[in-house]
Amino acid sequence: MSPKAAEKFFRSESRYRMLVENSCDIVFSLDMDGNIAYVSPAWQKILGHEPSEVIGHNFVEFVNPEDIAGIQTMVAAVIRTNSMQEATYRVNHVDGSWRWHTARVNRHRDDDGVQTIFGTAHDATERLHIEELMTQSEKMAMISGMAAGMAHEINNPLGAILQHAQNIERRVSADIPANVKAAAEVGVSLDLVHAYMQKRGIFDFIGHIRTAGIKASGIISNMLQFSRRSDAGAELVDLSAFLDKVLELAGTDYDMKKKYDFHRIELQRLYADNLPPVLLVVAGMEQVLLNIIKNAAQALTGGELPHQPRITVRTQVAEGMAAIEIEDNGSGMDEKTRQRIFEPFFTTKEIGVGTGLGLSVAYEIITKGHHGLIDVRSKLGRGSCFTIKLPLQGRA
Ligand SMILES: Nc1ncnc2c1ncn2[C@@H]1O[C@H](COP(=O)(O)OP(=O)(O)OP(=O)(O)O)[C@@H](O)[C@H]1O
Ligand SMILES: [Mg+2]
Repeated sequence: MSPKAAEKFFRSESRYRMLVENSCDIVFSLDMDGNIAYVSPAWQKILGHEPSEVIGHNFVEFVNPEDIAGIQTMVAAVIRTNSMQEATYRVNHVDGSWRWHTARVNRHRDDDGVQTIFGTAHDATERLHIEELMTQSEKMAMISGMAAGMAHEINNPLGAILQHAQNIERRVSADIPANVKAAAEVGVSLDLVHAYMQKRGIFDFIGHIRTAGIKASGIISNMLQFSRRSDAGAELVDLSAFLDKVLELAGTDYDMKKKYDFHRIELQRLYADNLPPVLLVVAGMEQVLLNIIKNAAQALTGGELPHQPRITVRTQVAEGMAAIEIEDNGSGMDEKTRQRIFEPFFTTKEIGVGTGLGLSVAYEIITKGHHGLIDVRSKLGRGSCFTIKLPLQGRA
């Protein structure tokens, strides 16, 4: 190579190097076994690893085991078609969390026939999260419409069942003159009818109809929340005092005390001291928080949980909103469960323990009743953290 040609080559090489090293996307190359030969500095900026922790290691060491098959399929397609291919997968951040990356890769064969896989990858975590929230809200709008419709339809016959059960009891009561008169007309004694019904347990049956009906009405009234979208009755509230009150309520709840041994759970309050008052529909928000706390207490009960069970309630101001975080170090949940928890009737609890309505009602109350957001992060075996964000006055 002539000196001039060499200089031109080096200039061009340094220009490309500058482009690669300053790219916001990660530029990388791998050998055909997947070992990393080069990563641009963006890897360290995005994922935090030192270059020495990366170069020479196999790419799949950094990939979530559930996504390795997708990467292998992408590489196979590159080799088969000799064209650029794309895949989205989770890659490990140095802090242990998973980030979603989308990579585009292709194959290169140099003059000596040595093959390389090269490509670029960018962080798609935020975009996917926003897409997930949007799908979630569309899904919830559809399901909640259905649930509200069903609840209205069931409400009338249920009302009739309860009403008529009560009528039966009233129509055999000797305290009502019309009953005594009708019994006399057909030649029977009301006392004997009463005694017969008592002996055959008929009053107990009526009692059971009533108890089951009242339970069903509770579920229906929760479902009817789906059609209530107004924020009527909202008032400005001091969030710290409100949260203290809710925690106190949770502590006195019978179920919490007896079934979930609430006093054994350490309650940590980390309230921001600069929080302006927040506009709340008090009863609705109480219901939301009590359900989240009850879920947390349930996740901290049963099984071998070798730690100090703890619920942390945190508040802060972020992006013009007041944020409430309720974190537990309980059982956590897997990804499939996490994606479904806001659906009505989705529950992993045994029949009779949960109806699966708690969080779906919470979702409606927060998004429709308060124009806020509710979201969850969770790690199986490590715990869950629910975040509620509420618009601050004047900024909604
Ligand atoms: N803190 C948590 N830790 C682990 N899993 C949770 C937690 N909170 C909710 N879940 C999961 O979400 C599911 C749905 O919760 P949701 O409150 O809607 O219904 P539920 O608690 O099962 O029943 P209900 O609230 O009607 O009594 C639960 O069954 C559970 O699998
Ligand atoms: Mg619940």
